[in-house]
Amino acid sequence: MRVDVFSTKPHDVVFLQDAAQGKALNLQFHEARLNPDTARLAQGAQAICAFVNDDLGRDVIAALSAMGVQLIALRSAGFNHVDLRAARDTGLIVARVPAYSPHSVAEHTIALILTLNRKTHRAFNRVREGNFALDGLMGFDMHGKVAGIVGTGLIGTVLARILSGFGCEILASDPYPSAECEAMGVHYVEMDELLGRADIITLQCPLTPGTHHLIDDSAIARMKPGVMLVNTSRGAVIDTRAVIRGLKSGQIGALGLDVYEEEADLFFEDLSQSYIPDDVFARLLTFPNVLITGHQGFFTREALRAIAATTIANLTQFQRTGAALHPVSLPD
Ligand code: NAI
Repeated sequence: MRVDVFSTKPHDVVFLQDAAQGKALNLQFHEARLNPDTARLAQGAQAICAFVNDDLGRDVIAALSAMGVQLIALRSAGFNHVDLRAARDTGLIVARVPAYSPHSVAEHTIALILTLNRKTHRAFNRVREGNFALDGLMGFDMHGKVAGIVGTGLIGTVLARILSGFGCEILASDPYPSAECEAMGVHYVEMDELLGRADIITLQCPLTPGTHHLIDDSAIARMKPGVMLVNTSRGAVIDTRAVIRGLKSGQIGALGLDVYEEEADLFFEDLSQSYIPDDVFARLLTFPNVLITGHQGFFTREALRAIAATTIANLTQFQRTGAALHPVSLPD
């Protein structure tokens, strides 16, 4: 079965080829992102494999379907970028990787929190320049601080466990509280209480119509002044312009982002010889208390191995039975 893999980076080739060994799959790798112009590269494929910033809107889905593609295998857990209604209308099956390594994203969230807190990124540069002054590097003890986790699914639960280890009090908000979190002492509270009491707020919920711009001017106004806000879920859970206003007023004391609402035109590319075309993003980079990574939460060996294994399992299951192992369908 021919499978066209879009947004391919060298690590995708290594991990997917390894997982596909011995399977009757003909993987065709394309560096190009999937969009209405590049969809035609999949001519002759029965399946395509896509990543988080590929365009899987109605036009692309119609084009894929017209070429005979029957399966979209996502190399991600999130599927907010797929027009599921269009997929259903054309009979295309969408599969995803529901769980790979929740540790990868939870641990990256901790990396952002600790770096923002103890400013190791600034200390690194200073020390290399022979500057051992400590001014501006003061942090706070994690022990005893209140952490608010929005979304205690797989990633949020691992994060809660790690933050418990630091001695944080943990508040959480989730329409479906987790028994595992409750057992470790996490307190489920209304969003208002979480926003008002947390010293550190982390977003671990999916992007849905209900969470789009969950963090807006009004939510920021309800936060504790000087709060640390970290988003490793999906960019559009935050209204970036509102967050910039919060940083300028000092209401937000530190911001860590691994995702950005307009990241598709920036992330995963080397723009160092070019320029940043997005003025809102460029503004974010001017704040000393903002730390941004380019959607690398998932980027560990273990996670990539698991993503490749589940992606190949989705493809071979489809090849054998006509159904994917982990299909995504429209909610009723
Ligand atoms: P999950 O599906 O296990 O958990 C998501 C949780 O969010 C669920 O418990 C759900 O009930 C909750 N939730 C939904 N709406 C909510 C709301 N309005 N308020 C509070 N909670 C809400 O998903 P998982 O695996 O924990 O991943 C979470 C998200 O992390 C993914 O949807 C994806 O967008 C993002 N992600 C980011 C990665 C990165 O590299 N930065 C990698 C993998 C996932």
